[in-house]
Amino acid sequence: MATATIEELKPGIKAPSQETLLTPRFYTTDFEAIANMDISAQKDELEAVLAEMEADYNCRHFRRTEEFKQSWDHIDEATRACFIDFLERSCTSEFSGFLLFKEISRQIKDRNPLLSKVFHLMARDEARHAGFLNKAMSDFNISLDLQYLTKNRTYTFFKPEWVIYAVYLSEKIGYWRYITIYRHLEKHPEQQYYPLFKMFESWCQDENRHGDIFNALLRSQKSMWNTWRGRLWSRFFLLTVFATHTLTVHERADFYESIGLNAQEFDRHVARKTNETAARSFPEILDVDHPEFFPRLEKCAQRHEKMQQIEQSNAPKWLKNLRKLPLMAAIFGDLVRLYFIKPIDAEALRGTVY
Ligand SMILES: [Fe+2]
Ligand SMILES: [Fe+2]
Repeated sequence: MATATIEELKPGIKAPSQETLLTPRFYTTDFEAIANMDISAQKDELEAVLAEMEADYNCRHFRRTEEFKQSWDHIDEATRACFIDFLERSCTSEFSGFLLFKEISRQIKDRNPLLSKVFHLMARDEARHAGFLNKAMSDFNISLDLQYLTKNRTYTFFKPEWVIYAVYLSEKIGYWRYITIYRHLEKHPEQQYYPLFKMFESWCQDENRHGDIFNALLRSQKSMWNTWRGRLWSRFFLLTVFATHTLTVHERADFYESIGLNAQEFDRHVARKTNETAARSFPEILDVDHPEFFPRLEKCAQRHEKMQQIEQSNAPKWLKNLRKLPLMAAIFGDLVRLYFIKPIDAEALRGTVY
């Protein structure tokens, strides 16, 4: 059984994967600044999304149907291993969203009740998502100890503006990832080896709504889109999110292949669609159709793979670091080149691109 090869914290509880640049992060922020944030410019928009969230369209969606009650022993070991990895990564990132949203909601409760309610309901959704994924893991005799993760993960401090740029993108890229997998399996049901994927259509609507909330927050802060600083940050976060996505998807190509998706096509499609969506929110988006854009990102993924091979070798640590150094420098150089590709002015397009 595949679980025999998985490192366990205690029986049936998977030890969390080692934190790397690519594992989902846990965040904390300046709660005081969020409590005092002037959101009046987007109050109507936020109230409208709040009403939608209160209606709770997915209230009955996250239930384990009869389809889940069967044995999964027929799934071969290689598929099982990469699927568990996909579940773990997704569960951790959903859970990270839950923790951040819950804490923001709690800390601003008395001073910014509208925003506190919105964050409370987003936390509700993410808890459902993480819980469902963890339950799916338990079908493979393994699960994550979420309390252990809460206490033992490193929390990265992000200023509220960074949280808004980064979470907006992570919600929208999450939407495109889930819907792309769903649409593909809708056309190729024979590739669907586990019923979780069938739930992604309604699931991703939650992520889409969360993204819309962060869009409202971003547009409520003029400095985030009406200044040169806002433009530079927008490009920085877009590039960071796309680079992380490319590296992760290529690193986990096995999983995408297990459901019949080509990792390169999937990565490019998701980044392209997320970039297109971000034009409704960010002042600038990236020129992903520039002939250098994807090839350079993919080169970074190859270099990153080489770095991992070096890391797994038996060489002494100093030698590993020395051998990784030129690869790291090359990745950095690629990212700088990509950052300076002439961006697309989304403010100028606003109103025409929808
Ligand atoms: Fe989610
Ligand atoms: Fe979300």
